[in-house]
Amino acid sequence: MTFIQPLPPPYLLRLFLFLSWLLQFHVLNAQTYTNVTLGSSLIAQDNNISFWGSPSGEFAFGFRQIQKVGFLLAIWFDKIPEKTIVWSANGDNLVPSGSKVELTANGNLNLIVPETREQIWKADYSDNITAVIAYAAMLDIGNFVLASSDSVHLWETFKQPTDTILPMQTLSRGSTLFARYMDTNYSKGRFMFSLQSDGNLVLYAKHSPSDFDNNSYWASDTNRNNSIELVSNMSGSIYLASNNGSIIYTISPNVVSSKDFYQRAILEHDGVFRRYVYPKSSTTSNISTQRAWFSLSTTPSNMCLILVDEKGVGPCGFNSYCMNDQGRPTCHCPQGYSFIDPNDSSKGCKQDFVSQNCDDHEASPQADVFRFYEMPNGDWLRSDYNHFEAVTEEFCRQNCLADCFCAAATFRDGFCYKKKSPLSNGRIDSSIAGKTIVKIRKLGNSSTTSQGQGSGLSKPEKKGRNSTLIVVGSVLLSSSVFLNIFLLLVTLLVTRSNNLKKTKEIQQGLIFPGMDLICFTYEEIKKITNEFEEEIGSGASGTVFKGLVPSDGHNGNYCVAVKRFKNIVAQSETEFKAEVDAIGRTNHRNLVKLMGFCNSEQHQLLVYEFMSNDSLASVLFGDSSRLNWKSRIQIALETARGLLYLHQGCSTQIIHCDIKPQNILLDEYFSAKVSDFGLAKLLKTDQSRTTTLIRGTKGYVAPEWFRNMPITVKVDVYSYGILLLEIICNRKNFEATTLVETQMVLSDWAYDCYAARNLDQLVKDDNEAMDDLESVEKYVKIAMWCIQESPEQRPTMKNVIQMIEGTIEVPIPPDPSSS
Ligand SMILES: *[C@@H]1O[C@H](CO)[C@@H](O)[C@H](O)[C@H]1NC(C)=O
Ligand SMILES: *[C@@H]1O[C@H](CO)[C@@H](O)[C@H](O)[C@H]1NC(C)=O
Ligand SMILES: *[C@@H]1O[C@H](CO)[C@@H](O)[C@H](O)[C@H]1NC(C)=O
Ligand SMILES: *[C@@H]1O[C@H](CO)[C@@H](O)[C@H](O)[C@H]1NC(C)=O
Ligand SMILES: *[C@@H]1O[C@H](CO)[C@@H](O)[C@H](O)[C@H]1NC(C)=O
Ligand SMILES: *[C@@H]1O[C@H](CO)[C@@H](O)[C@H](O)[C@H]1NC(C)=O
Ligand SMILES: *[C@@H]1O[C@H](CO)[C@@H](O)[C@H](O)[C@H]1NC(C)=O
Ligand SMILES: *[C@@H]1O[C@H](CO)[C@@H](O)[C@H](O)[C@H]1NC(C)=O
Ligand SMILES: *[C@@H]1O[C@H](CO)[C@@H](O)[C@H](O)[C@H]1NC(C)=O
Ligand SMILES: *[C@@H]1O[C@H](CO)[C@@H](O)[C@H](O)[C@H]1NC(C)=O
Ligand SMILES: *[C@@H]1O[C@H](CO)[C@@H](O)[C@H](O)[C@H]1NC(C)=O
Repeated sequence: MTFIQPLPPPYLLRLFLFLSWLLQFHVLNAQTYTNVTLGSSLIAQDNNISFWGSPSGEFAFGFRQIQKVGFLLAIWFDKIPEKTIVWSANGDNLVPSGSKVELTANGNLNLIVPETREQIWKADYSDNITAVIAYAAMLDIGNFVLASSDSVHLWETFKQPTDTILPMQTLSRGSTLFARYMDTNYSKGRFMFSLQSDGNLVLYAKHSPSDFDNNSYWASDTNRNNSIELVSNMSGSIYLASNNGSIIYTISPNVVSSKDFYQRAILEHDGVFRRYVYPKSSTTSNISTQRAWFSLSTTPSNMCLILVDEKGVGPCGFNSYCMNDQGRPTCHCPQGYSFIDPNDSSKGCKQDFVSQNCDDHEASPQADVFRFYEMPNGDWLRSDYNHFEAVTEEFCRQNCLADCFCAAATFRDGFCYKKKSPLSNGRIDSSIAGKTIVKIRKLGNSSTTSQGQGSGLSKPEKKGRNSTLIVVGSVLLSSSVFLNIFLLLVTLLVTRSNNLKKTKEIQQGLIFPGMDLICFTYEEIKKITNEFEEEIGSGASGTVFKGLVPSDGHNGNYCVAVKRFKNIVAQSETEFKAEVDAIGRTNHRNLVKLMGFCNSEQHQLLVYEFMSNDSLASVLFGDSSRLNWKSRIQIALETARGLLYLHQGCSTQIIHCDIKPQNILLDEYFSAKVSDFGLAKLLKTDQSRTTTLIRGTKGYVAPEWFRNMPITVKVDVYSYGILLLEIICNRKNFEATTLVETQMVLSDWAYDCYAARNLDQLVKDDNEAMDDLESVEKYVKIAMWCIQESPEQRPTMKNVIQMIEGTIEVPIPPDPSSS
């Protein structure tokens, strides 16, 4: 067909006829039935919409094709171009072309696929055994009914709502609207709107991605005994009414004329219950001359803030955040992340870069590799794993940067909340104070290896950088126009690196910027400890005294533990400061916090927070009342967490070198706090190792100390294994007084018991543990792994925690003394 030349009249006529046939196509097939007689049926066909219409033609019941995927048996507004669907039968199970809905001779309404003879759906009125259907009808109010000969409605779509209610429709107690999955996907989604049998109208979200429990995010709080129903009256107002018609609770009061407007209220796929109106003609509308659905009310008004899912993801998926766009929650990904499914933003976002490597033993300059994406007024709720008080934003940034677990952090009023992956319940809203920073890998420092996470990435090679410079340089040089720019760049780079050096030096001169370590004079220490009056412990390295720091106006009095060292052997003042700096930068709830220090000529002291419940040694081996099994296991886990932080969480890796019960302190709630860490370097005299110079305590010391092997974090894992056995069995590893010789060394005996499957021997005085022998076995197995001869065979502290928490299985351990 060509439109360039004028068409001769016969063609025009034929075209006109064709067009008007197209236009009337609907009407031709839209037998505007008043009654659907028994034996009638509709067939789902491509390009031939078949339906039963209401007398006015406003509503239709029949098949609609959904995105070329299949057919939906539905009711829709037939006089508007959108053909908005208000009810559907088979959203979860679309049917193919050729499927049939039939009103059988005996009054059943069935949806069947003839090829497979499969019944997909049927109108169920089986609760009325005397029901006899005489006809069906699509009513003008949008209700499709099966009626008896005296026009009693025995089944009606108004009583079987999907996600929409229409004017004149009422829902009785026990009714639920289910949101569809997406605007164009009629499968059941996450949200429901339920008029409960207790009279309360509640909006629920299924915990995404699981549906273990449902989370209510809005409720009318109208619990009452008398009958109550959800009404949408003729003017479209929506309210809860009691049986005498009195209004109990109003959801959408606006009165709108049904003569001028189409109306509907729907629980939409985003979990918001909205009421819409649509002008029937462009002249009747005061709202707009545009013919479209306009939202009159939304419940709740800001979904992003109201839905906080304790166990799931919030309005948007993991790692994404929600923003309220005129009452509509919209999901977004932060920079560095992208939608898992670009067609379904509710599925959440995935990280587009390789995560920070926790195994990196060197203090890598993370600031070179990672940066922050800023989200003012943003937050991710229920994602926190750690927080700091009274810190600066810079501290928050540095701390998150140095911590491989930190995916993002929220900084607000001096509080720094570190957040772990996957981030959940994200939102940006002007009502949220502070800002959230999301850690992302810098461009050009993204994955270069396809062998998964890690190796080589976080240990950047100087060579690589130089060669990049050379390449860039030669490209630029090849065009003489760029010569000046290149020179300028070089100058800038040189100046910048000089500046960097300078600031570094200045920082070393300053005392620990960004931290509030107190630098005490020796006189002050004497005052605090009242001339070293109360000694609370002593060991090979020094003596600990109790002290009282007087109020300074900001803080009240508080107790401290002051550690005086026998022989600090740090070469220089800078070295001492560097070590104290490293200790002071640690901040973890399972580490004893360093509050301050004193570094006068002869006296080096460290001031720690005071722990009121002494050490693990005193509760495990002391005469005081012992801890129960649950608390001991908790302490084992907390100790492991503290150690993991030392190994992987701080900017400078810290090997403790002296893990033993005496160094695990207990606070007022019997939470474990690792103490005396960071002293290894401070006290070390010599790099060469002989048995006399071993840091650490006999019995807890890993075999590599005695051999000429490098000392790694695995020495702590070994000591932790011994400690774990002591925690399990409530006894010392070495007990000379034990009558049975085979039981003298706990680590040997424990393996024997494990191998002989009589672990009950180990805990026979502990009823609680006796009742939980399965756990006892698990912990013994973990301990056995930790005390393997070969450091490589021992797990990392991260693995230990994963085994304790049950996220990884504990394999069968080899005999630690076998090799
Ligand atoms: C459309 O379907 C109806 C029955 O549902 C049928 O009578 C009619 O012939 C069909 N039209 C076309 C063009 O296939
Ligand atoms: C059950 O069906 C009969 C006969 O069609 C009808 O008269 C009666 O009202 C129905 N009962 C209910 C509870 O719908
Ligand atoms: C529909 O059928 C019923 C029962 O046969 C009859 O009473 C009623 O008048 C019919 N309605 C219309 C609009 O034809
Ligand atoms: C609708 O969404 C569900 C859940 O994601 C999916 O299983 C189904 O295939 C989708 N249906 C269509 C027609 O796209
Ligand atoms: C949550 O809602 C679903 C309906 O989608 C229901 O089947 C399930 O039993 C509910 N779970 C709980 C714990 O109430
Ligand atoms: C509601 O009904 C229950 C039992 O049906 C009854 O025990 C309770 O007292 C009633 N509550 C009120 C407020 O009437
Ligand atoms: C309807 O019932 C409520 C209690 O449910 C009562 O407070 C109200 O007065 C009643 N109204 C009428 C008109 O009877
Ligand atoms: C519908 O309810 C509203 C109150 O919410 C009332 O003002 C209005 O008159 C009612 N309309 C009809 C037709 O009953
Ligand atoms: C629409 O506007 C007309 C006059 O402009 C007014 O009389 C009528 O009340 C308005 N209707 C509504 C629903 O606001
Ligand atoms: C998104 O939808 C488009 C069109 O419906 C489709 O071509 C594309 O494959 C979809 N993308 C994904 C990731 O599912
Ligand atoms: C990538 O990381 C390396 C090493 O930390 C750093 O030297 C380099 O500048 C970084 N590259 C970019 C583009 O930031």
